[in-house]
This record gives sequence, C-alpha cells and structure tokens, in this order.
Amino acid sequence: MRTCCAHLPPPRANGVVRALLLAGIAAAATACGGSSDDAAAEQAALVEQGKQIFRFDTFGDEAQWTDALRLHEVIEAAVDPLTALSVGLKVDADALPPAVVEGIRNGSVDLKSPATTVALLKLDAVVGVRGTVETAGGVDRLRRVGITCALCHSTVDDSFAPGIGKRLDGWPNRDLNPGAIIALSPALDAATKTALNSWGNGKFDPRHNVDGLNKPVVIPPAYGLAGIQRITYTGDGSEIAYWNRYVAVVEMGGLGSFTEPRLNLSVTHGTVDLVSGKLPALQAYQLSLEAPAAPAGSFDAAAAARGKLVFEGAGRCATCHSGPHFTDGNERLHPPADSMAEPETPSYASRSATKLYRTSPLRGVWQHPPYFHDGSAATLDDVVARYDARLALGLTATQRADLVRYLKSL
Ligand code: HEC
Ligand code: HEC
Repeated sequence: MRTCCAHLPPPRANGVVRALLLAGIAAAATACGGSSDDAAAEQAALVEQGKQIFRFDTFGDEAQWTDALRLHEVIEAAVDPLTALSVGLKVDADALPPAVVEGIRNGSVDLKSPATTVALLKLDAVVGVRGTVETAGGVDRLRRVGITCALCHSTVDDSFAPGIGKRLDGWPNRDLNPGAIIALSPALDAATKTALNSWGNGKFDPRHNVDGLNKPVVIPPAYGLAGIQRITYTGDGSEIAYWNRYVAVVEMGGLGSFTEPRLNLSVTHGTVDLVSGKLPALQAYQLSLEAPAAPAGSFDAAAAARGKLVFEGAGRCATCHSGPHFTDGNERLHPPADSMAEPETPSYASRSATKLYRTSPLRGVWQHPPYFHDGSAATLDDVVARYDARLALGLTATQRADLVRYLKSL
C-alpha cells in the first residue's frame, strides 16, 4: 500500500515549498508504514491553508489598492455599507458578532455611514476586501486596503439579508461591479474611469492593463476544475496555479513575478515574493471546490433525460462538451469561430496566450448566468437558441426545451 504517499506537490510549486512538501511526504512515508491517514491529513491541512489564502490573502497588493489607487481614502470618506452592497460587495454574516447582527436588525447600526464600512472591514466581514484599521484619538481610521481572490470568486447565500450571508467560495460574484469600484480611485484620469465604468456587473477585463484594449469577460466560477488541465476561457495555463500567479501579480498587484513569453509579458512587483509560496495550497483549495449540484426541483427530470439525448445526438454538443467535465479541453482547444460569442471586437482569444478557446466545462452551469465569455447569452435558452441558429441544427421547440432542462441538471 502506497496510498499514503500518492499525492505529489504540483509541478510548479516554488522551490522552498516543494522541498518542504517533499520533506513532509518523506516523513509521512517513514511514519505511515501503509496507512493513508497522514497523507490525508496533510492534504486536508494544505486545502485549509489554501482556503485562508483564497479568502484573506492580499499578497501585499495594498501597494496597488492603497498606495497607487488610494481607495482607502474613498472608502473611509464616502462608501457606506448600502453603497458597498449596491456595487455587489458581500458581507460574511459569520464574521459579525451578535451585537452587530442585532444592530443591523433593529436599525441601530447605521448602514448609511462610511464609519460602519470601516467597522465591517475591521471585523474582516467584507468578502474579498481586507482593511488595516487603526484607532487614533478614539476614532477608527482605515489605513490600508487590499483585495483577495474571494472578491470576484466568492459570493454569499443571502441568508441574513440580500448581500449578507454565509460564504460560497468558488461561486463567481456576478453582482460585483469591479470596474465601478476601481473607478472610485482619485488617482485615475477621466478616460480610464470611463473605460472601467463601461464593464458592468459580473465582468472584469483581466488584460486591459496589459494590452490597453477594453472588452471585459464574465467572472467564471473557480469550482469544478479538478481534472481539467486547461485553465481560463482560452486555456492559457495547464494548471490553476499558472493563472493564479497571473492574477495575483498582474491584476491584483501582489508582490511577486509573472512571466509569459507568449504574451511578451514579464511583470515584477516589489522586492519580495509573497505569491509563489502560496500557489500550491491555493490550487489545492480550488481543486477541492466542487461544482454545486442543481437544487432539488429546479428542473424536470424526465425532460432532462430527453435533453441528454439531444445533447449527445441532434444537438452535437457532446462532440466538444465531452467526458465527465463536459469539455474536450484536455485534448484540444478551438479556433475563435467555434465560440458563439465570436466574431467580436477586439477578439478575446486574440489577446490571450493561445489565441484559441477552451470548450467551457458545464458542471454547475445552472448557477452562473450570463453565458459565454462575453456574457452575451443571458439564459440557457439563449445559449441553445444561438447554437441552433448558428450551427443550423434544426432542433424542434421541444428538443430545445429538453436540452435546456438537461443543462440545468448538470
Ligand atoms: C477582479 C476580479 C478577479 C479577481 C480578484 C480574481 N479573479 Fe480569477 N478570474 C477573473 C476573471 C475575469 C477570469 C476570466 C479570465 C479568463 O478566463 O480569461 C478569472 C479566471 C479565473 C480562473 C479560471 C477559471 C477557469 O474556468 O479556468 C481561476 C481558477 C481563477 N480566476 C482563480 C482566481 C484566484 C485564485 C484569484 C486570487 C489569486 C483570482 N482568481 C482573483 C476575475 C478575478
Ligand atoms: C465546436 C465545439 C462546441 C460545440 C459543438 C458546442 N460547444 Fe458549447 N462551447 C464551446 C466553446 C469553445 C465554448 C466557450 C465559448 C465562449 O465562452 O466564448 C462553449 C460554451 C458553452 C456554454 C457557456 C458556458 C459558460 O460557462 O458560459 C454553454 C452553456 C454551452 N457551450 C453549451 C453547448 C450546447 C448546449 C451545445 C450543443 C447545442 C454546445 N455547447 C455545442 C464549444 C462547443
């Protein structure tokens, strides 16, 4: 039995972490003598570490959000909780002490005061935003602010109130308006603000600050990616850590380096590396996030079963959306014309490292409208109608409806 030693550090793990992991595995191998408990415990610890990073680590990106963009000034002066909720920020109800919960219920906590936002930041209750709050002369001052992965890739279940509830990690925040949030910065010129304000809810352009072009994409889920070796809409990386390094450094402004010869891109922030050592745990956490199952009663099972036949037959969907993850991404990528969102200007594929598209995985697809990388299909009905027309599939109305039911069941 070698199961206790079965897992190896991801190939891109940074030197020190890799050495530590290997040492840990060696120790486990000596100690376990056939038991898989140690390896399982070690894996669980890595996933837990990754969860903390995903939720709370800024990688030192305060350099961008505070020192360069000065967002702490705006938040402290003008962003009350109602404004924050209106641009899609979420509040983690589990981080609120009972007195605050009661105060929100009975109205004694003022949701129209920026000071309340600062108090929420002090409690670490704003999903994906981290503040450093210092008390000066009895007043809480927001000194620094940074963002984490959870900003875009987590939402909450609204169990307390709209925008306030338990965290749902990996669920894309489609209410978030990242462009409008960044545009609050007093450090940006009018043209940049106009570009940022054009993005809209649930969208972000992760290449705008690299190539200067402006066309955002829909924030995708960070769940359901185990077993998929092509990451991003365009399959730029063979593992999650590739793209995490890109985002952490190039978009969030974390301290570290990202180099991509295919994009002629090399970015280094700061003189220390606060990114590389965290990537293995961060990746392990995301790989542990399963796509959410369709809610019971949300689709007609008999119609979905008929729709499966359309998916595999007359709809020809399974020719690309194949295998357990409903993608052929591990085998091939597709020319731009295979995306129902193309042609578009500028083409998102043309701005990527591969210039191609990955067939999107479909597990949990019910959860995250709108669809296609540009969000141009509002519903799964729109998706099916688009394919039917563009590929001249000639599906009947019943076949289209059944196919939608099937997609809703995945
Ligand atoms: C400002 C919003 C934002 C932040 C912050 C952000 N992302 Fe993303 N993320 C995006 C967008 C937009 C894409 C789509 C890019 C693409 O596919 O070309 C994406 C893509 C991804 C993907 C690829 C999903 C797939 O289907 O292949 C993963 C995984 C991911 N992000 C994880 C992370 C992690 C981990 C962090 C923190 C290091 C992070 N993201 C921070 C917006 C964000
Ligand atoms: C030729 C390959 C191919 C075929 C055939 C195909 N797809 Fe796709 N599918 C893709 C690619 C590539 C994307 C990503 C396009 C984009 O985002 O621009 C995609 C995206 C999608 C999405 C959006 C997922 C998301 O997260 O936004 C859905 C839903 C979908 N396809 C369903 C279907 C259905 C239903 C059929 C059959 C009627 C089908 N596809 C046929 C390649 C294909």
